[in-house]
Amino acid sequence: MTENATRDQRTLNGIGEIWRWLMHRGPKGTLKHISKKGPRELLRLVKLYLRTIRAHRVNRNFDKRYRINTWGGLRADQMDIVGGNQDCSEIYAPMPEKTFHHVMRSIDVDFQNFTFVDYGSGKGKILLMASEYPFKKIIGVEFARDLHVVAEKNVLRYENKKQCCFDIEPQLADACEFILPEGNCVLFFFAPFFGPVLHRVLENIKRSLEDNPRQVAIVYMDDDVPHSKIVEVESAVVSWGFFFSHPLRNLPFDPGALMPVQGKVWLSR
Ligand SMILES: C[S@@+](CC[C@H](N)C(=O)[O-])C[C@H]1O[C@@H](n2cnc3c(N)ncnc32)[C@H](O)[C@@H]1O
Repeated sequence: MTENATRDQRTLNGIGEIWRWLMHRGPKGTLKHISKKGPRELLRLVKLYLRTIRAHRVNRNFDKRYRINTWGGLRADQMDIVGGNQDCSEIYAPMPEKTFHHVMRSIDVDFQNFTFVDYGSGKGKILLMASEYPFKKIIGVEFARDLHVVAEKNVLRYENKKQCCFDIEPQLADACEFILPEGNCVLFFFAPFFGPVLHRVLENIKRSLEDNPRQVAIVYMDDDVPHSKIVEVESAVVSWGFFFSHPLRNLPFDPGALMPVQGKVWLSR
């Protein structure tokens, strides 16, 4: 592991720890607990504490603005899952808003001729944010029934003057079973799954495009830097021979992200 990756892993562990303390002890109890640590550890934990609180506030505000519920979630082993692939699932966390719009503005395609797909759509935050772009249709694939039900409610409640795609369909399904829509697609992944599930989903995409060539953009975003799957996805996608890497301008600082997000975009020729 590189020095950066070790630091990111410590940050990730620290944020997880603080999150648990906040849940069990509340903000006051957490601060009291942290204040008992030595000066260096205290400084590190206070920084992480502030970062966690800030992300919490930004994400809560997003939900309040649209009267929906996308923040907070459960691990796959606590949920009712369709199919048997929870061992390869990442935990639910919604995509930070600022980062999402930055990525969308970097994708140079005519959205009106594209269907947007979010693989592992959780409570539907990405589906709602994507509806600010003029896609033909937006589809979400989520295998956790509890999250899917919340996504359906969110889609019904969401009101945003900037919304310009109203055909939003959250589907309850394992991503491995999902059949790619006809026509051009933007396929979005925010760290949903790994291992055999990731391989199978990529293989399905490849086969669909070989059978029926069309324009596709693949976006893979990740906020788990030490265990990032970006290199793995890149080597698969590039090896197919019909995708090339699309430049993504430097991602901005996003106060809604618990961990820094990174990502890559590939376009088919
Ligand atoms: C990091 S969350 C992203 C949520 C959503 N895309 C967003 O940004 O708001 C990853 C999601 O992938 C879902 N997931 C994991 N494995 C899956 C699978 N095999 N099929 C469908 N969804 C899956 C998880 O339940 C979780 O909701």
